[in-house]
Amino acid sequence: MRLGVNIDHIASIRQLRGGPEPEPVFAALIAQNAGSDSIVVHLREDRRHIKERDLFLLKEVVKIKLNLEMSIAPDIVEFALRLKPNRATLVPERRQEMTTEGGVDVRKDFKAIKKAAKKLNQNDIPVSLFIDPDKAQINHALEIPVKMVELHTGRYANAKTEEQKERALQQIKTVARYAKTKGFFVFAGHGLDYFNVDAIAKIEEIEELNIGYSIICRAAIVGLEEAILQMKHLING
Ligand code: PXP
Repeated sequence: MRLGVNIDHIASIRQLRGGPEPEPVFAALIAQNAGSDSIVVHLREDRRHIKERDLFLLKEVVKIKLNLEMSIAPDIVEFALRLKPNRATLVPERRQEMTTEGGVDVRKDFKAIKKAAKKLNQNDIPVSLFIDPDKAQINHALEIPVKMVELHTGRYANAKTEEQKERALQQIKTVARYAKTKGFFVFAGHGLDYFNVDAIAKIEEIEELNIGYSIICRAAIVGLEEAILQMKHLING
């Protein structure tokens, strides 16, 4: 199981005082040193945490893969073409949301997603779609076409009862299996933490987890390297 560490919230902390610290590149190097398989960052349309300069620095300095989460807004796509990350993960974006609240709707936004994915692919940027665990979304993703999907684990992570949690888990398992049989590389993420990651890490078809908030929260107490080592231990047994 690979671990992608999302460092957006290092930049959120920087934003608190509007100064230069903490530096996301510094965090990325620690993550790399601790065995993270990739660095994940979301360049939001309002640039509210990660900035373009962070991405150029990351691209230059970091040796592990750079996974850019991005909307399909034309200026963001143009930026991605200039940056050339190792992967572009297409996510929905709403200005007011605290975090990415759901997956992209491949059915509803089919044409626009297809157009963005085509542009990125033509420029040798592999594309992953962040989608809700829903077979219909997988079927639409087949037509884009993309080879990678990341399943949104938010409903599982935020479940209020054991029953809801179990139902959400079964849904993720079913869709992960389905996506795999359709030839996708399957990843998952959102809301995963030190207490709920175990069941997701056991799903064989999922080969990568992307985790941010919980790792940065733990890092505030125990340090980033230790926080990543603890998470790697949990997801790899
Ligand atoms: N994967 C994707 C596509 C995301 O948008 C996010 C949130 O930015 C994550 C993973 C990580 O979510 P969290 O910060 O809740 O671990």
